[in-house]
Amino acid sequence: MNTSKKATILVVDDENGVRQSFNMVLKDIYQVLLSASGREAWEILEKKKIDIVLLDIMLPDANGMDILQKIKEMDPNTEVIMVTAVKEIQTAVKAIKLGAYEYIIKPFIVDDVLTIINRALEKKNLIEQVIYLKDELNRYGYFEKIVGSDKKMLGIFDLIQSICDSDGAVLIQGESGTGKELVARAVHNQSSRKNHPFIVINCAAIPMTLMESELFGHIKGAFTGASSTIMGKLELADKGTAFLDDIDCLDVNMQAKLLRVIQEKEFEKLGSNKVIKTDVRFVAASNKDLPDLIEKGLFRGDLFYRLNVFPIRIPPLRERRGDVELLLQHFLDLHSRRRGRPGRSFSREAINALTEYDWPGNVRELQNLVERVATITKDSVIGLKDLATLSIGRKHIKDMPLKEAVNAFEKQYITEVLESVDYSRKRASEILGVHRNTLLSRMTELGIKE
Ligand SMILES: Nc1ncnc2c1ncn2[C@@H]1O[C@H](COP(=O)(O)OP(=O)(O)OP(=O)(O)O)[C@@H](O)[C@H]1O
Ligand SMILES: [Mg+2]
Repeated sequence: MNTSKKATILVVDDENGVRQSFNMVLKDIYQVLLSASGREAWEILEKKKIDIVLLDIMLPDANGMDILQKIKEMDPNTEVIMVTAVKEIQTAVKAIKLGAYEYIIKPFIVDDVLTIINRALEKKNLIEQVIYLKDELNRYGYFEKIVGSDKKMLGIFDLIQSICDSDGAVLIQGESGTGKELVARAVHNQSSRKNHPFIVINCAAIPMTLMESELFGHIKGAFTGASSTIMGKLELADKGTAFLDDIDCLDVNMQAKLLRVIQEKEFEKLGSNKVIKTDVRFVAASNKDLPDLIEKGLFRGDLFYRLNVFPIRIPPLRERRGDVELLLQHFLDLHSRRRGRPGRSFSREAINALTEYDWPGNVRELQNLVERVATITKDSVIGLKDLATLSIGRKHIKDMPLKEAVNAFEKQYITEVLESVDYSRKRASEILGVHRNTLLSRMTELGIKE
């Protein structure tokens, strides 16, 4: 979003006097570029990112209307203000139908020009914010706080504070469900970039064939099906943070392209030669052992070192069992507040049993368990028996040692969920709130077969 940097305005007019008067009025506030012909204007537009074009309708070598259409095709986010003589007002009105923002009549009034440009810039910023917010809402929708009192977690909170003014990349590693995305958001929210976008790039979910366009954007016609010009996520993340989730899923080719952007801080949209400068802080996450992938030739060592400026390793929940109680109460409070039933808690026995449990799906699994048990159970104190009601037909569990009981419960529950979705691993892992790989390994460990 261009709130703090100077917006760039291109003035296209064949009359030197008009160009110079616009320049006088604008040069102290904006970065102004002048061009006397359609051809010259086009050369600039192909090379530089322009926020607003002041475009004369009658040019010696081109029709302003044609240029307007080409600009809008190249980047719908560039706003065009037509500059016109009184006798051409009909054409100016037509230009607005073709996507021009406004028109200014020559000779112009300085205040009017400044107001129109200001409004156009506001509109541009709003559009960029809407694109960003839509993306945020789709993925998240609400702000969450990080809970933890374990020493390792406190160390992570301190680290997040101490790197808040740095632009160095952050690499977050940890098993599925340990809170990598939450930590990435905290890194952004506590940094000086917090009023700018936090853009998530989900490397596992985007097919590699579309990844390049997702990151860098493309211009209309760049490839079959590219029917309009689209901003890439790295352009949207300008001045903010780009979160590369599941970075290990990027193929080696894309890894090289990403490395280039991190090093050179610039890139081009697909199909375009125009260099886009970017000021982005990179935060990446992975639940894989990246050094191991480097050894196998699946991950580039140079990219790893570029990203690993500030490494954060989130321990699995079973290595910080003290946090289980805090998290249980935290998620129960969230649930209760939403349902208008505050003041609920877990019994000591239930807390002890759940603290013993190994949580292969980590915090996400715990969160889902609280959600289910708090929905099913009506009592204000949730006890061991309520955990048992999570699954039907578990009458033998009470005679078993805790670990076996938990395993028996988990086996039965996973089996029920799998049956309910016709053994789709993808759907089941969504319902259970664990990563697909966690589900597969638990199925093997517990001996669950189709
Ligand atoms: N310390 C924590 N305090 C509060 N909530 C947490 C904490 N850690 C994780 N969560 C919650 O647990 C869920 C899973 O966390 P998150 O999505 O960040 O995990 P992840 O490490 O990115 O997992 P994956 O590798 O599967 O993508 C989220 O709903 C998150 O809000
Ligand atoms: Mg994640």
